Amino acid sequence: MKKFSIVIAGGGSTYTPGIVMMLMDNLHRFPIRSLKLYDNDGERQETLAKAIGIVMKEIAPEVEFSYTTDPKEAFTDVDFCMAHIRVGKYAMRELDEKIPMKYHVVGQETCGPGGIAYGMRSIGGMMELIDFMEKYSPDCWMLNYSNPASIVAEACRVLKPHSKVLNICDMPVGTKRRMGYIVGRDPKDMDVKYFGLNHFGWWTSVKDKDGTDLMPQLLDYVSKNGYLTEKAVETQHMDASWQLTHKKAADLLKLEPDFLPNTYLKYYLYPDYVVEHTDPNHTRANEVMEGREKEVFSAARAIIQAGTAKGGEFSIDNHASFIVDLACAIGFNTREQMLCIVENKGAISNFDPTAMVEVPCLVGNEGPEPLCQGNIPTFEKGMMEEQLAVERLVVEAWTEGSYLKLWQALTLSKTVPSASVAKQILDDLIEANKEYWPELK
Ligand code: NAD
Ligand code: LMR
Repeated sequence: MKKFSIVIAGGGSTYTPGIVMMLMDNLHRFPIRSLKLYDNDGERQETLAKAIGIVMKEIAPEVEFSYTTDPKEAFTDVDFCMAHIRVGKYAMRELDEKIPMKYHVVGQETCGPGGIAYGMRSIGGMMELIDFMEKYSPDCWMLNYSNPASIVAEACRVLKPHSKVLNICDMPVGTKRRMGYIVGRDPKDMDVKYFGLNHFGWWTSVKDKDGTDLMPQLLDYVSKNGYLTEKAVETQHMDASWQLTHKKAADLLKLEPDFLPNTYLKYYLYPDYVVEHTDPNHTRANEVMEGREKEVFSAARAIIQAGTAKGGEFSIDNHASFIVDLACAIGFNTREQMLCIVENKGAISNFDPTAMVEVPCLVGNEGPEPLCQGNIPTFEKGMMEEQLAVERLVVEAWTEGSYLKLWQALTLSKTVPSASVAKQILDDLIEANKEYWPELK
């Protein structure tokens, strides 16, 4: 069996230890010869990397492990780059969330003005990673789950149309797992149809392998409970604020009783509710900094201090095993069906063929092949067209350095009430993002 060489970009990410543990747990189906971490913040990465080095020696000494801030060292001789960077880190996420809230507008990591601001930061960082990959390992595939995935995917389409980058999101994977709990099935045995943009889509069909329609049971359950399930011991989407989000799916269903919604639609369909239920002084970024970030970095420091991980290992991020499924699909041409963010090319028949959409794809050694989802109804199509225009305008604003296009993007976002509010938020965001955004004229 072939052994692969991997670089994780965003080595200092809170997800890195869990993903490394998950990769080590999956070596039997995805063998690795070399694992490198790369980050442009050496100090942040080093804390995690030193601890991971100790763990790796104990559980997988045969895998060569290293970490670096040097792109050449990181990207030379690699088969896969697993990318999860956060340009501007949590300090900027906090501002993305708090600035719109000053104007009573949704402040969220990937949706609305926060997502637009984050997108304007991510594009440059992601394009740089792709350049490094193509320079030092031209045959490498990038599996990207850095956010905001829609804007990153659109930037890849426009700026790197021939690059081997596959954008994927964990949210549909997590929700499908919850669906599995609801109907008592293994998610791997459930076939789905789905259409949308990233963080903006709907399941139109969920079936058993033998063709049994699971939609009636799921629609009935979600209409009463949302995606809240009793059994859901996950490593992701578990905090109290996430429970409210899973529950809110019941209200999303009221607008489209035939399809199962992506949870992120709540920011577009019920922005007033979201604002009312958000503390403008303590947003999700604060929760993550006080929770996941603190826990992961404390665990790393404890391992370094003890010189061993025995008794206090990092937990395995099983929810991220879809990344291994994806790498196996490409590496071993398994042609597994997975939701990916790809150029539409007719998969959603009555939607812009050049849009980056999220649909089921067959993934093999040449990448993802979108599966046809047919026509979509007017309500969803209208929402998606508006949101697609927002995402395109962000990429155009970044590429052209255009203030006007970014103002248009914010104005068009369903989360923003008017052009004047959009302008106030934009001017604050420009000030906050001086270090990261291109200059806008
Ligand atoms: P984090 O801030 O803990 O980690 C991000 C890391 O990226 C930091 O160490 C930072 O220094 C590094 N970085 C920033 N810009 C970089 C650049 N240009 N080059 C190299 N490194 C750079 O963030 P996090 O919360 O762990 O999330 C990381 C990313 O993963 C985010 O984009 C997030 O939205 C996404 N994400 C991933 C999953 C998943 O399943 N893995 C789930 C949700 C979100
Ligand atoms: C994160 O993990 O930080 C986000 O992508 C999702 C969340 O938990 O807010």
